[in-house]
Amino acid sequence: MSPEYERTTGGSERLFRRARRVFAGGINHNARYYEPYPIFVSRAKGQHIWDEDGNRFTDYWMGHMALILGHSPKAVVDALRGQIANGTHYGMGSSLSVELGEEIQKTVPCAEMLRLCNTGAEATMYLVRLARGYTGKRVVIKMAGGWHGYNTELNKGVHRPFDRAESAGILAEEQEFVKTVRFNDLEAAERAVREARGDAAVIFLEPVLGAGGCIPADEGYLKGLRELADRSGTLLAFDEIITGFRVALGGAQERYGVTPDLASFGKIAGGGLPLGLVAGRKEILSLADPSRKERFVSIGGGTFSENPLTMVAGLATVKHLRKNAKSIYPRLEKLGARLRDGVDREFGENGIEAHTTGMGSLFLTHFGTVPTSPEETSTEDKPMQKRYALALMPRGLFILPGHPGGISTAHTDADIGRLVNESGTLSATMRH
Ligand SMILES: Cc1ncc(COP(=O)(O)O)c(C=O)c1O
Repeated sequence: MSPEYERTTGGSERLFRRARRVFAGGINHNARYYEPYPIFVSRAKGQHIWDEDGNRFTDYWMGHMALILGHSPKAVVDALRGQIANGTHYGMGSSLSVELGEEIQKTVPCAEMLRLCNTGAEATMYLVRLARGYTGKRVVIKMAGGWHGYNTELNKGVHRPFDRAESAGILAEEQEFVKTVRFNDLEAAERAVREARGDAAVIFLEPVLGAGGCIPADEGYLKGLRELADRSGTLLAFDEIITGFRVALGGAQERYGVTPDLASFGKIAGGGLPLGLVAGRKEILSLADPSRKERFVSIGGGTFSENPLTMVAGLATVKHLRKNAKSIYPRLEKLGARLRDGVDREFGENGIEAHTTGMGSLFLTHFGTVPTSPEETSTEDKPMQKRYALALMPRGLFILPGHPGGISTAHTDADIGRLVNESGTLSATMRH
């Protein structure tokens, strides 16, 4: 498969064999499995990770793109050190959770109110419940290729043929009211709303499709969805778990200038610790107030929601981003553009058609067609995409095969230059 990869990662291979005896498939997130076996990480700092064999990689996976400040940034490490002596878990609210909530309120346009939980999958599940509780309607319209975590209802239409459950064990009945439509196709959304005959609760999408191919919404598409939602009495909700605090300080809703009724966040907002949250209009979020006498929408948290370690890590991150937004975002934008243009050019010069999609600091290199929607990735050379990522690893560059990458503030111009140059070197050998 890749002799160079296998020659340099014997320690990971041994650990993978052990891991397979204790975890199904040797992993604890399906995305983390790739052939012939994944590397196992022994430590991380800044823009680097080290594997079991001591190989150092410039990391572009960045903890599922959660680490916009790099691994273990000083602000977060100091905050965590300070908090550990004061307790790791309260199971109650604290000034820290209020402060994090207030920071997010100030930053995210739609966040009149919010609810904290522990993962993105939870946040999207609660978002759907709130949307249905508020509207009294049932149908959720999601995108073909849209990924919202492992919750049962939304685990539909992520992969081809985009219209069914992603897993055995999920009943068709459990997803009866979830409809998938083509991304970047306003007419398809209009049709779905029409077909729901007044029963569409929410149109829910990632403004930049993540796992579905790192594909940004077209100019005008989100505005069109906003108008469609308003016309039809449907809510509009964004899944900003990847785009939040990344494509702009206030997320994709700030960048596109379209404010949704509800939005889910996670990843960056937790500063590298587990977090999910639902934000949105006060009128909707206030339905989750347990002192309500009627129309109460019961959603989590859970045991670990607003745990103080996540709160201080999230606070340190969001505050740092807010304070330095004017320098951070333009710089990430520049690095992202350089990476996307450079990689495509290097492949092009060697006669390989490559298109790196993304926005700001997000990127994914596709071989073959330029996808504007996951449906168009059918003619794309997916095996080539994985071969490329695997070939980069022995050169000290880590992109999780088949998944988007995220640049952090720890990455340098020279890092991006190296990824571009190595892509050029590899492209000469990748035609077959
Ligand atoms: C857009 C999007 N939504 C939801 C999720 C699920 O979040 P989590 O993995 O924290 O459950 C992810 C995770 O990658 C995601 O990318």
